[in-house]
Amino acid sequence: MKRAKISVIGAGNVGATTAHWCAAAELGDIVLLDIPEAGTMPQGKALDLFEASPVIGFDATIKGTSDYGDTERSDVVVVTAGIPRKPGMSRDDLLATNARIVGSVASTIRETSPEAVVIVVSNPLDAMAQRVYQTTGFPRERVLGQAGVLDTARFRAFIAMELDVSVNDVAAMLLGGHGDTMVPLLSCASVGGVPVTQLIEPKRLAEIVQRTRDGGAEIVSLLKTGSAYYAPAAATAQMVEAIVRDQRRFLPCAVYCDKEYGVGGYFVGVPIILGGGGVRRIVELTLDDEERAAFQKSVGAVKELVSAMSALTGKV
Ligand code: NAI
Ligand code: 2OP
Repeated sequence: MKRAKISVIGAGNVGATTAHWCAAAELGDIVLLDIPEAGTMPQGKALDLFEASPVIGFDATIKGTSDYGDTERSDVVVVTAGIPRKPGMSRDDLLATNARIVGSVASTIRETSPEAVVIVVSNPLDAMAQRVYQTTGFPRERVLGQAGVLDTARFRAFIAMELDVSVNDVAAMLLGGHGDTMVPLLSCASVGGVPVTQLIEPKRLAEIVQRTRDGGAEIVSLLKTGSAYYAPAAATAQMVEAIVRDQRRFLPCAVYCDKEYGVGGYFVGVPIILGGGGVRRIVELTLDDEERAAFQKSVGAVKELVSAMSALTGKV
């Protein structure tokens, strides 16, 4: 069987760690690309990772490069190019720089890998996914943003820590943008099938929801030199796996929603079925009044971000 070709654009912390998880899980052959200004860094990381393969026992080629020719006809392209958040910066502060970088990356992907599924990771996530969608002109099934898998992973981790149970027994779902307005759904969080509301008292649950919303900032304030990458990269690799193995996973991802949830043409996090070819279906949940209001607030924040991006770039 032919191996999938996975290109990761941006060989920094998230990109290189995504390559690491993808290689270790033998998801395909990997190309790790960065700008020429990064020198031979992508080659160094790719060789270093390949040299781990005899020890770990995975079979995958890993090529470091600054030449998009090496990424041609990729099945999946992961976009991590850009600058990360530093202490005191919000995700939105990244808007202008990353819109420029991601726009130029997307126009190259359109030429070099016209059939690829693109997973956007660069922040501010929902706006950058919109930018890739608009710039590539790819069908909406083939452009996704990674945020919800990470945010639910944080929510699940915090619930598991609170109850001292295995993370494997905690399930959760979350809606909205990858920002402070994200909507962890208490109605969909459970531990071993038992609603979390039966296990954790409301005040404590509210604190856990807030910690989830602040999850990215919490890591930034600890690292001091950049933002999270192990969990974001693991989340991205799970999405790559769902696509290359046609797993039809039920996951929260940022996708282009038009009539769905009444969003009207923006990328926001919603539950989808993710498999071969990308988005197979958007799942519309019935929300209670509080959840619907919180979701609408989050969509409002995404719209503001996209309109700020339009003002900065002249087009979305
Ligand atoms: P990093 O600084 O370690 O790596 C970014 C890399 O992109 C650098 O190596 C840089 O040289 C490269 N780059 C810049 N312009 C490029 C271009 N035009 N083409 C190719 N590569 C280019 O940053 P890190 O920590 O890897 O974060 C990357 C992005 O991912 C940031 O925007 C960050 O905010 C975002 N992020 C998103 C998450 C999510 O859940 N969606 C989670 C964590 C980070
Ligand atoms: C995170 O949530 C910075 O978006 C990044 O960690």
